Amino acid sequence: MTYPDFSVKNRVALVTGSARGIGLAIVQALASAGARVVIQDIDKPIAEIEAQKILSDGGQAVAVGGDCTNLEQASAIVSQVRERFGVIDILINNAAIQQWDDFLSYPVEQMVRQSYCNMLFPVRMCQLVLPGMIERKWGRIINISSVQSLLGNAAMPVYAMSKSAIENLTRGLARRYAKDGITVNAIGPGWFKTDRTAQDFQTPEQIIENGKRVPAGRVGFPEDCAGLAVLLCSRAGEYITGQTIYVDGGLHLR
Ligand SMILES: NC(=O)c1ccc[n+]([C@@H]2O[C@H](COP(=O)([O-])OP(=O)(O)OC[C@H]3O[C@@H](n4cnc5c(N)ncnc54)[C@H](O)[C@@H]3O)[C@@H](O)[C@H]2O)c1
Repeated sequence: MTYPDFSVKNRVALVTGSARGIGLAIVQALASAGARVVIQDIDKPIAEIEAQKILSDGGQAVAVGGDCTNLEQASAIVSQVRERFGVIDILINNAAIQQWDDFLSYPVEQMVRQSYCNMLFPVRMCQLVLPGMIERKWGRIINISSVQSLLGNAAMPVYAMSKSAIENLTRGLARRYAKDGITVNAIGPGWFKTDRTAQDFQTPEQIIENGKRVPAGRVGFPEDCAGLAVLLCSRAGEYITGQTIYVDGGLHLR
């Protein structure tokens, strides 16, 4: 082994909800480290544009549509990836719904939809990809959590609950499959500038002002999560499992 070995060359990586934001940065980083990447997103046209950019840069990428609130679509997504690349070595459960809810009147349909997307779809995806990983004695699963899992959130308690749940799933699967050469970890972003948080960062001044509320003195940008994802998927990260690592500029230290 050469130190450090961050290569993910030829590994097939499926990242849900990755046409934009943190998922896209992770996909781009994995592609530049040599992985064959699958940009899965409900917005397939944008996913296709991003896949094309990776192809133009000499990487390997494919776009796959699908709605991560619908458990029945999970097997179709996995089948499309297998048809294209044969296997799935790396699964990153990134797609999630983040809803502000007035707790007492939060509609049941929205509660169920959010729970499907943030918790049950990742569970279903793990069920579908794990058998192949076990057979090949190699696999990497990363669940995208949030610093909200630690802090709790009065304005979106159901979202925060779903992120705590995904961290617990991470630990359970890590224990269960460590002997099979599979690591399962979570990445917990802090306060990131993406489409989802656009209302917090409408002007350059607002980006700077809100950044002052973070110990690091700035908000996060999608690429801040990318290096950790590559580390966890590479040989260098082989002995790291069951962890949630917060990429938050110290926000969880409040
Ligand atoms: N942005 C933040 O501050 C922040 C903080 C903590 C955690 N996170 C987590 O990071 C992850 C990515 O967040 P982001 O800010 O990059 O999001 P984003 O809103 O910028 O991008 C999300 C992507 O997911 C896609 N998507 C939405 N619903 C989908 C569905 N039902 N099926 C498939 N794809 C769907 C969207 O089309 C979009 O391309 C999420 O799990 C989120 O909870 C974000």
